[in-house]
Formats: sequence, C-alpha cells, structure tokens
Amino acid sequence: MEVRFLGHACFELSDGDTTVLIDPFLTGNPKAAISAEDAAATAILLTHGHGDHIGDTVAIAKRTGAPVVAIVELAGELAGEGVDVRDPNLGGTVKFDWGSVKLVPAWHTSTTPKGTVNTPAGLVIHFGETVVYHLGDTCVFSDMALVGKRTPIDVALMCIGGHYTMDRADAVDAAELIGAKTVIPCHYNTFPQIETDAEAFKSDVESATRSDVVVLEPGESHSA
Ligand code: NI
Ligand code: MN
Repeated sequence: MEVRFLGHACFELSDGDTTVLIDPFLTGNPKAAISAEDAAATAILLTHGHGDHIGDTVAIAKRTGAPVVAIVELAGELAGEGVDVRDPNLGGTVKFDWGSVKLVPAWHTSTTPKGTVNTPAGLVIHFGETVVYHLGDTCVFSDMALVGKRTPIDVALMCIGGHYTMDRADAVDAAELIGAKTVIPCHYNTFPQIETDAEAFKSDVESATRSDVVVLEPGESHSA
C-alpha cells in the first residue's frame, strides 16, 4: 500500500485498486500536490470540518461517487449537499470491502465553513493488512497511548506545525505514546503560522523513540 502526501493534512492511501482519500483540502492549499479535479477516491475520510480539512470533499465525492466518512453532525451537513455519507461518532467503526475506519478522540475545535459545529476526530484506518492512524488536528494527550495499545500502528500521520495543533516538541511525546513503526509529519509549512523544522522533528523522534520518521514532500509516497 502506498501512502501519498498531497499537502497539509491530505493523504491518499492506495493499493492501485482502492484509493482512500483523507482530508482533501486541495483548492486554495498552497502546498497541494494535485488539483481536486485529478483526485481519485473509492472513499473519503474526514477528521473534522475545518476548511483546511473538508476542502474539496463535496466536489470530489459528487464526481467520484465515493462515500464520505465523517462524524455525525459533519456527515449531516454533507448529506444535505447530496453526498453519500457514513456517519459514525467517536468509538464507532465503519466497514468497507477494503478495510475499516474507526473514529478516535482528538483535542481540537471545529465548525465548518457553513457553520455546522462538529467534534474533531482521529482516524484509525485498516487498509488490507496495514493500519494507519491519522491524528487529525490535535494537541498531545495521554490517551493516544490507548490507540496504539489497542491496535499496533504501522503508520501515524501526525500534525507537527504548532499554533492550531501540537508543535513538533509535543509531537515527539505523541510519537512516544503511540509507538507507530513509521511517523509521517503533516500540517506544517502550509501557512506562516505553522512553519516548523520537520528534519529536527525526525531526529528528535528517532533519538527518543523506536519509530522511524519519513518526511514527505507534497506528492511523494511511502510504501507501507
Ligand atoms: Ni482544524
Ligand atoms: Mn487544520
């Protein structure tokens, strides 16, 4: 399975047959690796409804017919726009032919650009034999350890930019709590407020934990 970083918090998981798109903020994203028109999706997964995560969800879902998994209030807004949704809440799991996605806590706030208040989540994604944990936007919190204890994580997609989320120093603690084989940083350098040094994060995590950090430029992929 390939994990492709599309910029900011947007990732594509693909085995060449199934394509799972997460937080497809492409239009207006200065770091977007592709355009919304070129995005493929078998399913779209959302961590929360802030504009830099919901992004082009409606347009891509309508064009591809992909179902969208989002927490119930956010799913309700999307259903009202004619999108096929799955609407779990925290702790809930949605199953697909290709695997599943479970919503886990994230400490953050969220209101959509249209005004729907929604609780942010992290996503634990089983894609075939590979487990990916997209933390969403969050500060560090000790219950992250429960996620990795319950389900050993192959790849953690982790915000490190600070200001709107945890910064790279707190993210080292998050990496330690989760214990993923591989950590891929995201949600940094998109805007001036979230500039940070991903290579310093890599060296800090790799000296403090057993996780490997893979820093991807937008458009680059990691095989997991
Ligand atoms: Ni956010
Ligand atoms: Mn964000």
